[in-house]
Amino acid sequence: MNDDDTKLKKIGKDIVKAADYLKDDLLVVFPTETVYGIGANALKSNAVEKIFKAKHRPSDNPLIVHISNYDMLNDIVDNVSEIEKSIMDKFWPGPISLILNKKEGIFPNNVTAGLDTVAVRMPKNNIALEIIDKCNFPIAAPSANVSSRPSGTNIEDIYEELKDNVSYFVDDLESNIGLESTVVRVINNEIIILRPGYITVEDLKTITDNVRLDENVITKVKSDSKVLSPGMKHKHYAPNVSCSLIKFKEVNDILSIIENNEKVALLLTNDNIIKLDKEIVSNKYPNVKIINLGMSLEDVSKNLFKSLRKLNNLDVDIAYIQSFEFSGLGVGIMNRLIRACEYREIDV
Ligand code: TXA
Ligand code: MG
Repeated sequence: MNDDDTKLKKIGKDIVKAADYLKDDLLVVFPTETVYGIGANALKSNAVEKIFKAKHRPSDNPLIVHISNYDMLNDIVDNVSEIEKSIMDKFWPGPISLILNKKEGIFPNNVTAGLDTVAVRMPKNNIALEIIDKCNFPIAAPSANVSSRPSGTNIEDIYEELKDNVSYFVDDLESNIGLESTVVRVINNEIIILRPGYITVEDLKTITDNVRLDENVITKVKSDSKVLSPGMKHKHYAPNVSCSLIKFKEVNDILSIIENNEKVALLLTNDNIIKLDKEIVSNKYPNVKIINLGMSLEDVSKNLFKSLRKLNNLDVDIAYIQSFEFSGLGVGIMNRLIRACEYREIDV
């Protein structure tokens, strides 16, 4: 079979086929409302091992386990607190993962990287929920991308990097939200956000006032520090092009740091693109390419990873990405951008 035929056969909407592969301990990429997941039977060590291999994922970084109903939850975790229950009642199915106490003797060591806890999520995507229902076991699924690359929000972006290790890709077009789930842990009745996402601090404050962002969400983690979530330590979301965040008062100020013939990409929201002086750009900076991140923060969240991946094919040497305010959904967006830019930021 040639590559095109294989691709046609490997991508589809067949939920039964997806569940059958998962039951055979094989890998399936499937949609969720946040990003695509690369899934395997969370209860089988050999199946989970394939995820780590396909992603080149460090073995100390545990996976999120996806469930479709509360019976499954009760089978895998112990001592769910009132606050944790309230979070589930309010936001599940939905884009939030909780770090819970795992039941002994259920999970192979690799799913949780040997921790006493497990990250659990009930996704809000009917295809995902039906696949989990058909399997009738929890599905471990990190974001569908090779580790350190931007997460996958459509099949076309990730097919090549994962095809050799994945048996089937379930297609559901673009992911709705585009940022991975908010990850929280509740300790002593306080909700600690380990990874910000679509469910924000403000959303969680409707449950208790006692909510905080972990300090490592927006700062660089020191290599010797102890973290509540191993993923915080690893390199993330980086495209092949070197990126920097850029802070400006007036969008045209960006031009002051660009050399005339420099091949540069600018990732800006629609309102800033409108304000950019197109005549100066096309006359003086012929090698500047512009990527539109959209109108609202929701658009930016949805377009972010896709836009970072676009940079790989754009023939530019550097990308400047506009900074966002650290509030609401902006916290999740900045958490990803800071890492994609490997902590580089320029003030113009
Ligand atoms: O939206 C999402 O969460 C997507 C979709 C597919 O559901 N999944 C996802 O998985 O983003 P992943 O593996 O890319 O991110 C999981 C994060 C990592 O930062 C990991 O360190 C953290 O959750 N994590 C997993 N288990 C943990 C645990 N027991 N304690 C602390 N952090 C944990
Ligand atoms: Mg990931």
